[in-house]
Amino acid sequence: KPKCYPLHSVVLLTILILAFFGYGFLSSRHLMPAGVRAGHSVAVRDPDGWQVVTLSRMLYPQPMVLTPSRSDALTVTPWLAPIIWEGTFNIDLLNEQFWLQNLTVGLTVFAVKKYMVFLKAFLETAEQHFMVGHHVTYYVFTDRPADVPHVLLKEGRQLVVLSVRSYARWQDVSMHRMEMISNFSEQRFRHEVDYLVCSDVDMKFWDHVGVEILSPLFGTLHPAFYTANRKAFTYERRRRSQAYIPWDEGDFYYIGAFFGGSVAEVQQLTSACHQAMMVDKAKGIEAVWHDESHLNKYLLHHKPTKVLSPEYLWGDWLLDWHPVLKKLRFVTVPKNRQKIRNP
Ligand SMILES: *[C@@H]1O[C@H](CO)[C@@H](O)[C@H](O)[C@H]1NC(C)=O
Ligand SMILES: *[C@@H]1O[C@H](CO)[C@@H](O)[C@H](O)[C@H]1NC(C)=O
Repeated sequence: KPKCYPLHSVVLLTILILAFFGYGFLSSRHLMPAGVRAGHSVAVRDPDGWQVVTLSRMLYPQPMVLTPSRSDALTVTPWLAPIIWEGTFNIDLLNEQFWLQNLTVGLTVFAVKKYMVFLKAFLETAEQHFMVGHHVTYYVFTDRPADVPHVLLKEGRQLVVLSVRSYARWQDVSMHRMEMISNFSEQRFRHEVDYLVCSDVDMKFWDHVGVEILSPLFGTLHPAFYTANRKAFTYERRRRSQAYIPWDEGDFYYIGAFFGGSVAEVQQLTSACHQAMMVDKAKGIEAVWHDESHLNKYLLHHKPTKVLSPEYLWGDWLLDWHPVLKKLRFVTVPKNRQKIRNP
């Protein structure tokens, strides 16, 4: 028969337990913007172990089975990976889930040779829009570490400069990114972050890019091909290349400028692409779109678990956009490509 304690000591004990064990959870959430600090959960001990107690409620519109979130776009692939469009997710719900896991996201970017000019705006806009409220580590790969601009970072965010060699041809700089990401994943990223997001540097964030993109393996639809027939995709079509994709195969054309996933998956992807490029090199062939061609071959055979719509990578050269795009979140910076690529 359980003993009875006086009510006031039970209340006091409960308050002490909440204060003590709740602290860790609440403190891991101090990065959250105040506006979405709804639905606090804390762990308290009960006789059978730990129990999560929800202290307040989250109110949001009910998902309705007969009302698709978007009727104008494909929102799931035939292998049941979500395709991420504005209107298909509730960011407050997703933030809650990711905050409970206290994750760190690594963002890799290469500022090699003249591409350093893009880094400041890239980082400044990432501070405004990328994974706001979560732990972020920027990994800046560069051959000129002294030129990395000073950008004021918000709490919970840090920048790590990784010195790498450069290559004479921009194609080699681009292709060797796979090797470097793979090497550093093995050496340090897997000890430091949970997810890796790999991006080009000549880009600016224009709008929210958050945890809705995170998944074991994600790729992004190339904005120039998202409505195209697979025969129009600029896959490598020569059989001799490891990146070869026949005309009657292919799901989407993914852009090389934005992909990611868990550190383990990104390491596998980058290592496989690097190996394939080395095989091609030994045969004296280079895929038509370099690392992007190999990325497309890899994602054909290792289907991504999320696919990002072109909201997540839009080209400055694409003047008109289809009404299917409700937001442009991440956009290339206009530039004189030849001049930047051939310093
Ligand atoms: C959350 O993660 C950060 C960074 O990895 C770490 O410093 C912190 O101690 C973690 N907090 C909790 C409550 O686990
Ligand atoms: C990556 O690691 C391999 C094996 O350790 C090494 O041979 C290679 O030089 C490294 N590449 C770069 C670019 O650091």
